[in-house]
Amino acid sequence: MANPYEIAFERSIRDPDGFWGEAAESVHWYKKWDTVLDDSNKPFYRWFKGGEINTCYNALDRHIETGRGDQAALIYDSPVTDTIQTYTFSELRDETAGFAGVLADLGVQKGDRVLIYMPMIPQAAMAMLACARIGAVHSVVFGGFAANELATRINDAKPKIIVSASCGIEVTRVIPYKPLLDEAIKMANADSRPDKCVIFQRSQASAEMMDGRDVDWAEAMASARPHDCVPVAATDPLYILYTSGTTGEPKGVVRDNGGHVVALNWTMKNIYNVDAGDVYWAASDVGWVVGHSYIVYGPLFRGCTTVLFEGKPVGTPDAGVFWRVISEHQVKCMFTAPTAFRAIKREDPNAELMKKYDLSKFESLFLAGERLDPDTLHWAEKALNVPVIDHWWQTETGWAICANCLGLHYFPVKEGSPTKPVPGWNVQVVNTDNQAVPAGEIGALVVRLPLPPGSLPTLWNNDQRYIDSYLDEFPGAYKTADAGFIDEDGYVFVMSRTDDIINVAGHRLSTGAMEEILADHPDVAECAVLGVADQLKGQIPVGFMVLNAGVTRDKNEIIKEVIQAVRDRIGPVASFKTATVVGRLPKTRSGKILRGTIQKIADNQPYKVPATIDDPTILGEMKEALVEIGYAKTGND
Ligand code: COA
Ligand code: AMP
Repeated sequence: MANPYEIAFERSIRDPDGFWGEAAESVHWYKKWDTVLDDSNKPFYRWFKGGEINTCYNALDRHIETGRGDQAALIYDSPVTDTIQTYTFSELRDETAGFAGVLADLGVQKGDRVLIYMPMIPQAAMAMLACARIGAVHSVVFGGFAANELATRINDAKPKIIVSASCGIEVTRVIPYKPLLDEAIKMANADSRPDKCVIFQRSQASAEMMDGRDVDWAEAMASARPHDCVPVAATDPLYILYTSGTTGEPKGVVRDNGGHVVALNWTMKNIYNVDAGDVYWAASDVGWVVGHSYIVYGPLFRGCTTVLFEGKPVGTPDAGVFWRVISEHQVKCMFTAPTAFRAIKREDPNAELMKKYDLSKFESLFLAGERLDPDTLHWAEKALNVPVIDHWWQTETGWAICANCLGLHYFPVKEGSPTKPVPGWNVQVVNTDNQAVPAGEIGALVVRLPLPPGSLPTLWNNDQRYIDSYLDEFPGAYKTADAGFIDEDGYVFVMSRTDDIINVAGHRLSTGAMEEILADHPDVAECAVLGVADQLKGQIPVGFMVLNAGVTRDKNEIIKEVIQAVRDRIGPVASFKTATVVGRLPKTRSGKILRGTIQKIADNQPYKVPATIDDPTILGEMKEALVEIGYAKTGND
């Protein structure tokens, strides 16, 4: 007999209207939809067309009306400032309504963009929810990005207002945000600059305010008039989240309002097995999709308590902080990236610090963002003694494509697999002719259209790039740009990206964007940046440069300069700390750099000398260069 997962999955594919129409009944609508799935303008599918909804109402007000006003909505736990602060649903709604009033007084209207560049403080969530409340479109930019990346996003989103804070706090230092913000605004095109900036002053660093442009958060809130929720079309955009594409130009992933509320609300119970009143913690950052979906929106839609954590898995103050947070706030389900657990395992291999805490309320750990290596999986399983669940998703999809859906049916875990496609996701492995391949065979992982609600309807102001990037290569399907296979039991295995994207500590970065920066250096003739295996961060970028003929400068100086340039133009989050100068790069006879082969040498993986290589002796030179910088110690020749 089919289990609840199989029944749900089958129905979601056969009858998406019925499946999602039913799921949509559990959320609040001002006006119900005319059609659940509108496919009249393929390939642009729209969910809940004709419906009117408000995302903030579904996250906050709805729960107050059903008697949860005094329940904790958000717990801010900040070991870096020694603060724990709880907001009930009523308190969070009042703060949010107040800030919505501030935005409205500054002229923000439905459809206007508001860029949010903030550290992990409750005001970041309030700003997001306040935008949703008045129908404005937020675009959160991660604090670890440099001014240049911020400027690119300002240029694309053209925000009316930017909301920021005086500083972020890292393990060893306070990072003033305002100078980065001011520089980014200066760099941005004149017609994209914001009218005003609202700055939240923190006690760790005070931001210098610019007369006439900058508004102090606290002062504005003191006289704010609370703003009510504004109904918006289900298909109206809720947010834009920029993510790495294959060039220096990030892609503006759009999320709509209606499909997003319905899908995320559904995932809380069916994937994570949590419900109203439970405490859920995603240890990520609001600058990433995980933070959008599972620090702010998903848990609040469901009436859960969400934990907003400003700290790191290690060093704030030690590798026991995750256990402290779980125990102190009675967390039932936690979500983070495998890299966080690798960091803890490295500092506390026997999980000794865990013994200090009562984790009896803790029921499951979910991991995503990068491949979950078997060591980390088994270490976490053994230490925690709860299901450890790998799930696979992307900024674009907004929620998990594949998972072990704990609320539907728990399948035995297979190492290296995020288990099975979640209801709504018709996942296939195809060859270059877009034909499904037999079980066990590696190919491109695609999702047959339509994608479920909550996934990206398009890219901001760029329908053509949406088609070119995701829909062109495999007609009728969404290209995930991941390669992998599905085994005989229907388990999906995600192996690697098919483009130049790498995952560094769960952060998604484009090596192409780094190459553009290296190539801009006046002494560099050509270059390649590759993601090589790293024990802590999963992958880290390593640069290879061929210098222009006649360059006599010290190569270490040039290396230092390119490392600094990546830090300045992309940001510290790129973790670009290693580069080397080589005499030439291995290429095919047609001039294509053999990145895959270099990567295999660096990772000590067996490799074949490609038949198309221009000059095979160069591989020996590459190996020497890699050994010199600490890689390729035992690879074959
Ligand atoms: N603002 C400013 N700088 C930031 C920042 C922020 N919000 N976040 C990170 N940085 C900086 C860091 O200080 C570091 O700078 P450094 O090169 O001067 O040391 C750099 O960006 C890289 O940061 P990070 O990748 O976080 O590395 P780390 O060495 O500080 O910490 C881990 C390593 C594994 C502990 C950390 O990556 C982590 O906790 N990861 C959890 C996973 C996660 O949140 N994934 C997100 C998707 S789920
Ligand atoms: P992001 O958009 O930052 O969420 O990154 C998405 C990419 O991260 C995916 O395309 C995968 O390459 C990788 N990824 C995310 N989750 C997993 C997972 N569970 N297993 C393997 N790779 C993953």
